[in-house]
Amino acid sequence: MADPTPEPLQTNEELILAFLSDGGDDFTSGEAISDKLGLSRAAIWKHVESLRQKGYRIEAVPARGYRLVEIPDRLTALEIAPHLNTRDIGRVIHYRESVTSTNELAFRLASEGASHGEVVVAEEQTHGKGRRGRSWLSPAGLNLYFSVVLRPDLSPHRAPELTLVAAVAGVDALRALGVSPGIKWPNDLMIDSRKVGGILTELSSDPDRIHFAILGMGINLNGARSEFPAEIAPTAASVAEAIKGKVRRARFAADLWGRLENWLDVHAEEGFGKIRDVWRQSCLTLGQEVAVQTGKEQIVGRAEDIDETGALVISTAEGTRRRILAGDVEQVRRRPLPD
Ligand code: BTN
Repeated sequence: MADPTPEPLQTNEELILAFLSDGGDDFTSGEAISDKLGLSRAAIWKHVESLRQKGYRIEAVPARGYRLVEIPDRLTALEIAPHLNTRDIGRVIHYRESVTSTNELAFRLASEGASHGEVVVAEEQTHGKGRRGRSWLSPAGLNLYFSVVLRPDLSPHRAPELTLVAAVAGVDALRALGVSPGIKWPNDLMIDSRKVGGILTELSSDPDRIHFAILGMGINLNGARSEFPAEIAPTAASVAEAIKGKVRRARFAADLWGRLENWLDVHAEEGFGKIRDVWRQSCLTLGQEVAVQTGKEQIVGRAEDIDETGALVISTAEGTRRRILAGDVEQVRRRPLPD
């Protein structure tokens, strides 16, 4: 489904916010805003009212002007940029209140020329996509849903490595919040055996060149488990419940993007080996008896390793070794050996 919202422009609201934000603790006069942005005083007042409805606390004092007192936990550039410490990722942010899927919009923007590092981030997705054709529940205002345009110098068969890079960055960012996350192969971010995050990488390529990759991540930050639908409630979790406090989403997004950029740099400079080592340390799947659904078959055995391409290596009860590129892992209880 196409995203119906127009191309991102800096809206008058964003321009007013940026202007007030530059003013810090000082008041900015209506006249100064009006001169700078070419808006009438009535139009400024209307935008300020609309911003207040979105949670910005803006003081208005006659003869002095406006002052930005409090910024809500939203995910526009204005909230994220002050925390951002990256070279490329998130330097251009395409923010949407609501979007079908950030991956879908990022894919379109990349097809139209969006640069490496541009991010689409949304408060809500109406058709969030999960792996293997599933949907990703994306209620408004609680969690993080974003997609980054990547233009890596990588041959297409190495694209799955990018997902593992993102998983390592995700684990890092969650750890910085004080939780102990792990990775379930290939890219589920887990806390206490429940899923808090997922990664979906989509590719535009020809046989020997990646045009671009869209790396999408969804992380359940502030949703309460009691609000999850019955079918995912037993296996899903949110970070807020783990840390027993609310996660400031803009700050978390900026931190995660910084870590993602660092790990992508490591990957580009040192290759996949280093990522694989770090990934292994956080992996919950290796060493376990697992059943993997590949779509075509179920493979049962012991998860031995991931290989140099990111594939899961299983040794089966029949004594064969199988390489699995994509699938869903279920941990199975080890059956007692017969006497
Ligand atoms: C999974 O199934 O584990 C992958 C889930 C990926 C969800 C994210 S949310 C942001 C981005 N946009 C999407 O439509 N999907 C990804």
